[in-house]
Amino acid sequence: MTGHTRTGRPPRVVKVGGREIRPGPELDAFASWASELYRTSGPLVIVHGGGDEVSALSERLGLPALKVAGQRVTTPEVLPLVEGVLAGPVNLRLVSALNRAGLRALGLSGVSGEMVQARDVQAGLLGRVGEPTRVDAAFLQQLLLQGIVPVFAPLASDGEGGVLNVNADLFAAGIAEALGGELVLLTDVPGVLDGEGRLLGRLTPSAVRALVADGTVHGGMVPKVEAALRVLSNGAKRVWIGPFGPTALHAGLRGGTWFVPEGAPLEGRAPRARPSSPRGRPMAAAPTYPLLPLRLGAGAG
Ligand SMILES: Nc1ncnc2c1ncn2[C@@H]1O[C@H](COP(=O)(O)OP(=O)(O)OP(=O)(O)O)[C@@H](O)[C@H]1O
Ligand SMILES: [Mg+2]
Repeated sequence: MTGHTRTGRPPRVVKVGGREIRPGPELDAFASWASELYRTSGPLVIVHGGGDEVSALSERLGLPALKVAGQRVTTPEVLPLVEGVLAGPVNLRLVSALNRAGLRALGLSGVSGEMVQARDVQAGLLGRVGEPTRVDAAFLQQLLLQGIVPVFAPLASDGEGGVLNVNADLFAAGIAEALGGELVLLTDVPGVLDGEGRLLGRLTPSAVRALVADGTVHGGMVPKVEAALRVLSNGAKRVWIGPFGPTALHAGLRGGTWFVPEGAPLEGRAPRARPSSPRGRPMAAAPTYPLLPLRLGAGAG
């Protein structure tokens, strides 16, 4: 392990939307962004979406592609498509791109090692859809300690041998909570926008609830703000939603929308870069993580 430095920083849990990882230059741009984030900020867990590709295949096969408040209705006929697309080509090409960019990326789903278990909290309304109920944080920490970047397709075990489709934002929130890590939700819009399309730089839970109630936040943004509210209510100091890019890396995550707890002191657009504290969380001891040595010339990064 020579050449590895060690850091005790809590991991970042980065969720990337399907549109950011379509094949082509954008995928490679995301991979090099993630690789640099890893080198500068330490341990990283990635969760990906891919809803558009699932919908495209559904439609090609003549199956309905329905969503309710940003979550896919997953009938028993649709579930294999979701599994096939997300744990198949989407996960594989993201993992390949990250490895080409010099990371040691490991493709997984929540079913792997039963690392993420979920439960259907909508009483079957959405079909085979769940929300995370248990995350094996110890297993994940073992991977992070080895310098691995886990890359999750958002599918979970139902604890009884079955698989549940989980919205990727909520999946990432479950992992961030379990690890005491900072949640970053990357998407194809500048952040949460108001009714006139202006970026809202800073939102508290009560402000977010009002935006959902009046429909300003709708569709795919709903599970994102739910994910943010969930981790804030569990003690996180901040959550970020916005697009990835060079500014996001070098000056703290600038632009985008910061979600902060009610009454958090105003610190401008970007709250101070203090990662959410693992204090009071079920992390046994402050772990230290090896950083990957630069693998120069390891591919077409
Ligand atoms: N108030 C809002 N501000 C910004 N975006 C909004 C708002 N309300 C709804 N949206 C929609 O939310 C979308 C992002 O969610 P969406 O589920 O489509 O993408 P994603 O979650 O990044 O990707 P994936 O679903 O593949 O993981 C935006 O493209 C936008 O159309
Ligand atoms: Mg989405």
